[in-house]
Amino acid sequence: MADTKKLYIKTYGCQMNVYDSERMAEAMGGAGYETTDTPDNADMILLNTCHIREKAAEKVYSELGRFKGLKAEKPDLKIGVAGCVAQAEGEEIMRRQPIVDLVVGPQAYHRLPEMEAKTQDGAKALDTDFPEEDKFEKLKNRPKAKRGPTAFLTVQEGCDKFCAFCVVPYTRGAEVSRPVDRVLSEARDLVERGVREITLLGQNVNAYHGVSGGGDKTLAQLIWELDKIDGLERIRFTTSHPNDMMDDLIEAHGTCSKLMPYLHLPVQSGSNKILKRMNRNHDRESYLRLIERIREARPDILLSGDFIVGFPEETEADFQDTMNLIEEVKYGQAYSFKYSTRPGTPAAERPLVDDSEASDRLYRLQALVAQQQREIQDSMVGREIQVLFERAGRFDGQMVGKSEYLHAVHVADCSAAIGELAKVRIVKSGTNSLAGELL
Ligand code: SAH
Ligand code: SF4
Ligand code: F3S
Repeated sequence: MADTKKLYIKTYGCQMNVYDSERMAEAMGGAGYETTDTPDNADMILLNTCHIREKAAEKVYSELGRFKGLKAEKPDLKIGVAGCVAQAEGEEIMRRQPIVDLVVGPQAYHRLPEMEAKTQDGAKALDTDFPEEDKFEKLKNRPKAKRGPTAFLTVQEGCDKFCAFCVVPYTRGAEVSRPVDRVLSEARDLVERGVREITLLGQNVNAYHGVSGGGDKTLAQLIWELDKIDGLERIRFTTSHPNDMMDDLIEAHGTCSKLMPYLHLPVQSGSNKILKRMNRNHDRESYLRLIERIREARPDILLSGDFIVGFPEETEADFQDTMNLIEEVKYGQAYSFKYSTRPGTPAAERPLVDDSEASDRLYRLQALVAQQQREIQDSMVGREIQVLFERAGRFDGQMVGKSEYLHAVHVADCSAAIGELAKVRIVKSGTNSLAGELL
């Protein structure tokens, strides 16, 4: 048998990239590669990149620069760039950094083994097509290795929303859903291999409409199908768009016991003027009404959001609208970003907010959400909740798992095994996690 080669993959960006990296590693397994956790002994380095903000995209070039020495020592080393920077910048990457042998966009991963073979002949390989065929169908099935208790499963890709600030519709292409049968068979396979919690992924996961027999199924219908799988204990999904939050999905939050009470529902801004300029196609009032309906269905649901501050022409009054929306909703988790100009997007041509003003707004917003997060976390103390244990902690006997609400929970002297779902009483709330006792 030929020597196994070593593949080092570094993943940036969202969970969909995490999932894609796993699948690329599996596809390359079929081409004689096994993964390694250091670039130093690798025969191939693959950066799975993110283009969402300028900083994320620039990181790729500094990382590539660091591999120059390795490539000089080991000329056979292959270096590839995958993901959203690959899609957005294509050939330009090889021009800017000649050590790159291969550039592959997020919809062409199933062609990776062929591309690698081409680089073995000394050629460069580039593929940023959006091919007709489904990359997941063509990627080799996951090998039967045992898995940890949680897994991501991509069910939908791409975005048709074209928010004025965002590159995703350009880097990932149009909204496409995977067929129901494919998703279910992959989920069953994951469960057979030890997975107890699946997070369904999509750039707009609640826009899911997968073919099933003659018709289509919505995300809620897909969740009800997954609910029937024995051994699968928990279902989550991310990321949702407010405009795709359909009635059956809201209802499922109240009625499907495997669907966890956590919802990431980005709003970006609380100002109607800014929402309009962002092309979000929803306003503040419709978002707040939606939250109210979701809480009626599942009163204890933990809400999470994304916010952009310093979007072009955002005034202090617009920012205050975002702050009072946050106060009204009360988020258990939030991700906030300073607006970053992305070439080719509609907002790129517009006048910027002063950078130090934008930084100051980000600081104030993060202080508010940190306070809300802490209050919600503190309110968990004394409660008895279910924890799915995922790994051993840093100290002897300590185990770490997740609550239904996605809080990290540490339990000392814990007899629970990895993959066990157990009842825990929360005794303490820390900065980013809870401490509990096994009951
Ligand atoms: N599909 C998801 C999220 C996509 S990107 C959604 O629509 O909610 C993740 C987050 O990055 C976005 O929610 C947004 O808050 C942030 N983001 C996207 N483009 C950005 C930009 N140009 N500058 C700053 N933040 C941005
Ligand atoms: Fe980007 Fe908007 Fe699509 Fe989300 S909905 S991926 S923010 S364009
Ligand atoms: Fe980044 Fe692409 Fe995900 S731009 S956030 S890796 S879809």
